[in-house]
Amino acid sequence: MAATMVGADEHIPIRGEDDIVAARQCARALAKRLGFGLLDQSRIATAVSELTRNVVRYAATGDAYIRPLEGAPRGTGIEIVVADRGPGIADVELAMRDGYSSGTGLGMGLPGTRRLVDEMEIDTAPGRGTTVTIRKWNRKRNR
Ligand SMILES: Nc1ncnc2c1ncn2[C@@H]1O[C@H](COP(=O)(O)OP(=O)(O)OP(=O)(O)O)[C@@H](O)[C@H]1O
Ligand SMILES: [Mg+2]
Repeated sequence: MAATMVGADEHIPIRGEDDIVAARQCARALAKRLGFGLLDQSRIATAVSELTRNVVRYAATGDAYIRPLEGAPRGTGIEIVVADRGPGIADVELAMRDGYSSGTGLGMGLPGTRRLVDEMEIDTAPGRGTTVTIRKWNRKRNR
C-alpha cells in the first residue's frame, strides 16, 4: 500500500534574507503537516533560520532541501540539508562551541541548532563548502 503523501521534497535556493524566511516557513509548514507540536515546529524553524543565515553570512549563496522521513525505522521525521560552496569551516569542533564566532555573531547558531534537533552532521572542508544535515523525529507519533 502506498504511503500517504504529507509533503514532497522541497528545494529553496538561498540568496538572501527573503530566502531565509521562505526556508523557515517551509520547514515549519512541513513539520506541522507531519504532526509535530508547536514547540517542535518552532525548534525546527529556528534551526533552519540559523543554518540558512550562516549560508548568507559566510557563503553568500546556497541551497536548503527539506523533506519528510516516513516509514523510516524511527517513524515520522523531518530532514533538512543546508549546503553551500563557500569557504568551509576549518575547525568544526571550534565552530560548534558555545560563543565561538569568527565574526561579530554570538556564536550560538551551530551549537544552538544542535540542541534543537535529534541528529546533526556537518560535512565541510576549507575551500570546498559546507553541508549541514539535521533530522528531528516526531516522538508523539512514534509511540
Ligand atoms: N556555512 C558556513 N560557511 C562557513 N563558515 C561557517 C558556516 N556556518 C558557520 N560557519 C563558521 O562557524 C562559526 C560559528 O557559527 P555559528 O552559527 O555558531 O555562530 P555565528 O554565525 O558566528 O553567530 P550567531 O549564529 O550566533 O549569530 C561562524 O562564526 C563561522 O566562522
Ligand atoms: Mg550563525
